[in-house]
Amino acid sequence: MPKVIWITGASSGFGMAVAMKLLKETEHIICVSARRAHLLDILARQGAHAFPVDVTKSDQVAEVRSSIQDAFGTIDAVLVNAGFGVYGAIEEVPENAVRRQFEVNVFGAVETIRNVLPAMRQQGAGRIVVTSSSAAHVSSAGMGYYAATKHSIRAIGTALRQEVQGLGIEVVMVEPGIVKTAFGQVAMDENYMAVEGSDYHGQMQQVKAFMLSAFDRAPGVERTRDIMVKALTDQRVKPVYRTTPGSFALNFASKVLPPVLYDAIVKQAIRRIRQHP
Ligand SMILES: NC(=O)c1ccc[n+]([C@@H]2O[C@H](COP(=O)([O-])OP(=O)(O)OC[C@H]3O[C@@H](n4cnc5c(N)ncnc54)[C@H](OP(=O)(O)O)[C@@H]3O)[C@@H](O)[C@H]2O)c1
Repeated sequence: MPKVIWITGASSGFGMAVAMKLLKETEHIICVSARRAHLLDILARQGAHAFPVDVTKSDQVAEVRSSIQDAFGTIDAVLVNAGFGVYGAIEEVPENAVRRQFEVNVFGAVETIRNVLPAMRQQGAGRIVVTSSSAAHVSSAGMGYYAATKHSIRAIGTALRQEVQGLGIEVVMVEPGIVKTAFGQVAMDENYMAVEGSDYHGQMQQVKAFMLSAFDRAPGVERTRDIMVKALTDQRVKPVYRTTPGSFALNFASKVLPPVLYDAIVKQAIRRIRQHP
């Protein structure tokens, strides 16, 4: 029986790759959303049902949810994926940018989840797949606010998983490390904040060089995409999937190393990239 699947953040990166694969290789009914409607047209031409939405606007999210339910009678699975990264020093990122980071990555995700839950509870079945990150487990200089949003998502997803156990609803968290998508450009070109001449400037420049180099060497979307497709469609799923070697290593380092050693290793790694770009 085809599932009705809603993918947020489908105009680019993971969301688009997952939607494209589901459209090409499965019979499921695919609903996609993001702000840039013209990019969703690519998926609409392949048979997706496209809904322009800003996940920070609760009325828009509710409208998409009710449009999908009116058209197909149900929502079987959702990929809660829309998100972006703000980079900069904790003291220097402007308050409105910090708030926007949380509005999209945390409150936007929560809005989507809370919209699909009543229908899923009523039908006694449903799957909520959340795009988390290795940054749900670790944090480092320059990425504190982004990591904070993904730590929050992990906390919310874990609680939700326990709350809906027994209601027929499954919650799956996918935790990629750095992967080559538009995320890197959006973070480094549009949302990287360094104040010229400030005490943090040198360090933030190092962080930027490190991140640019990491995105340059990062793997493509394929493995993460395939795991997300599996998480949305397989009969049996695990609660958490880590999709890149980076996410295993970082997770392990943050768990086993004392904080002083963890700080020193992160600092050293950032410096080394700066010296050998
Ligand atoms: N790439 C990585 O290294 C990486 C690693 C771990 C986790 N992640 C997570 O993966 C998710 C997808 O990112 P990606 O790597 O695929 O990056 P991407 O290519 O930049 O895609 C981000 C998607 O989120 C959508 N989005 C952003 N703000 C939105 C808003 N206010 N309302 C609705 N949609 C919005 C964008 O669509 P519009 O701009 O058209 O709205 C776009 O479709 C994010 O949650 C990110 O945190 C990425």
